[in-house]
Amino acid sequence: STTPTPDRAGLLSLAVEAAREGGRAAAEGQSGIGVLDTKSSPTDVVTEMDRAVEELIRKRLHAARPGDAVLGEEGGDEGGDTGVRWIVDPIDGTVNYLYGRGEWAVSIAAEVDGEVVAGAVAAPARGDLYTGVLGGGAYCNGEAIRAAPAVPLELALVGTGFGYESGRRARQARVLGSVLPRVRDIRRGGSAAVDLCELAHGRSDAYYERGLNPWDWGAAALIAQEAGARVGGLHGAPPTPDLVIAAVPELFAELHDLLAPLGADTDG
Ligand code: IPD
Ligand code: CA
Ligand code: CA
Ligand code: CA
Repeated sequence: STTPTPDRAGLLSLAVEAAREGGRAAAEGQSGIGVLDTKSSPTDVVTEMDRAVEELIRKRLHAARPGDAVLGEEGGDEGGDTGVRWIVDPIDGTVNYLYGRGEWAVSIAAEVDGEVVAGAVAAPARGDLYTGVLGGGAYCNGEAIRAAPAVPLELALVGTGFGYESGRRARQARVLGSVLPRVRDIRRGGSAAVDLCELAHGRSDAYYERGLNPWDWGAAALIAQEAGARVGGLHGAPPTPDLVIAAVPELFAELHDLLAPLGADTDG
């Protein structure tokens, strides 16, 4: 391809521009929004704005860098030939968005040769823009952020989420039943990207979720890692849809060992 691969800072600034633009459009369209369609279950919803914002972001990215690949929640996988792939969640936290709540975000990550090197999470209703660059630190509104200092698991504030795909609720409840008695408390914010950024910001000590997709964690997992958190999946693997764990490093192994035997997040 003739499109040169820019440096990480260049990819980050495009991610930021597109996330801001998408965030602005989503914020303007929030009031009066309704359900357009459902996916795997009646509570797994999509609004007109999920699709519109993703389209806007794809246009913005392709205008700047034609030939890049894009993976987005609503529009699927679009191939490219530059070695750069964008991973886009146009609205992470659609249920909050639908209810007029503020905990939702636009998440955009830039992958080069399969590795996420830059990420932006814009949460306009909260006034927060989180950014991270591989090897370059994590920031909220331009200020460097760090994950919290170590605490024992029983004093840890643990974020989590319960995906809306059908057939997961009973298992989610059982896993929660094993975790809740072992920790200070649980937070279910409703946006995986914001949950991970909160961890990066020292506003929780750990986070786990099963059943996520790369667009949920792409940008925010880099931000959490750059803030000093450890991010991974099962048995030393990177995050996968099976499990994403992010925690202050001292807590990671204990939380992993608690979650791993509890099994896949499907009912039965
Ligand atoms: C959802 C949110 C939620 C998480 C779900 C995700 P969406 O993403 O991140 O917090 O629990 O697993 O699917 O559908 O609102 O983009
Ligand atoms: Ca969704
Ligand atoms: Ca999402
Ligand atoms: Ca989404």
